[in-house]
Amino acid sequence: MSATILVNHPLITHRLEFTLRLAANTMMQHLGLNDQNINLLLTTDPELAELNQTFRKKSGPTNVLSFPFQSTESFLLPDNLEELGEIAISVDTAIRESQDLKIRLQDRLYWLIAHGLLHLTGYDHERSAQEANDMSKSEQELINRVTKLRSDHMTHLAINVDHVATIRQARGITEPDPVTAAAICELAGAEGIVVHLREDRRHIQDRDVTLLKETVQTKLNLEMGAAKDIINFALNLKPDMVTLVPEKRQELTTEGGLDIVKQKKKIAKTIEKMTAKNIPVSLFVDPSPTHMKIAAEIGATFVELHTGRYADATDEIMMDHEFELINTAAEAASSYGLRVNAGHGLNYTNVQRIAAIDVVEELSIGHAIISRSVFSGLEQAVRDMAALIRPYSHLRYDGS
Ligand code: PXP
Repeated sequence: MSATILVNHPLITHRLEFTLRLAANTMMQHLGLNDQNINLLLTTDPELAELNQTFRKKSGPTNVLSFPFQSTESFLLPDNLEELGEIAISVDTAIRESQDLKIRLQDRLYWLIAHGLLHLTGYDHERSAQEANDMSKSEQELINRVTKLRSDHMTHLAINVDHVATIRQARGITEPDPVTAAAICELAGAEGIVVHLREDRRHIQDRDVTLLKETVQTKLNLEMGAAKDIINFALNLKPDMVTLVPEKRQELTTEGGLDIVKQKKKIAKTIEKMTAKNIPVSLFVDPSPTHMKIAAEIGATFVELHTGRYADATDEIMMDHEFELINTAAEAASSYGLRVNAGHGLNYTNVQRIAAIDVVEELSIGHAIISRSVFSGLEQAVRDMAALIRPYSHLRYDGS
């Protein structure tokens, strides 16, 4: 699966081109187009008008045109039989439309790519109202896969505030409040808030998650085991995403990744339920290529690579070995079209190598930040961590 992008428009920067390629690949993965390629042309109104005239005998530009390769009327000949087709988008029209709709150009381009892709797979909104409705639903699903969760290329910092709730529960009173902590984390620059609603409710309570759903401005990631009650809670609450984790009552913290080989069916079912409600699912897994393959097969949007063994390594050789496992698994996940997060045990001394892995989008960090906040204040602790993570993002995407 790959999208080849041809740019013929001055406003499409290298950065935006990268984002759009990632988005197109993610959408293709979601549609099961793993063996297919598309060419995506981002061009001007005059070129779209010319294509419109040549192939559809219509005058003037339009926003998007799709050319399936089964048709003989392609404006570029296919390189091989696995080509799905070509999509031509007028960036000039997309700019006007984004201004009219008061949305970012990037978001309009996502929609146009989704629309073009669905046409290539056989959808046609002009055939019937039912088909128009189905197509519109599928467009929304594809767009949910690529938006809201990521608005740029920086490695994101998502902060787990469970430990604030642990302190509260130790006294059984109302402070400190993890909801307040989440707001401070966001003000200090966190791009997401994570909470784990455990079956035994040892720290985070239902009330916390319900309030966070209302107050989090960035993105709420609900960590959870695949137990019936918690699944129903998540389906009702609709967080921005869920991360499925294994859960044992006796453990101090999540001990290992999900066993998605043994539990494939159960996890696939949970993903299906979440997907039906448009809730993207991340699977917390140990860094092995087999796990990545299964995660992609059962429809996960993300994997969160378990960095615990890397963090716990007691010498450099072990640490290098664990790092290589994470790096290889991250590449494998990305090649299957999965989006990649990482977390567990990351701290101010070990985070930078993980942040520098090309395909890692977001790090989920709790204990180290909340611990430091006792001495330096929460805002400072968040800023210190963000400062360690961000330089790597810039190195990566500036091409230097
Ligand atoms: N990711 C997952 C899936 C977790 O269970 C945890 C711990 O709650 C974290 C990340 C954060 O780990 P830490 O608190 O060690 O930073």
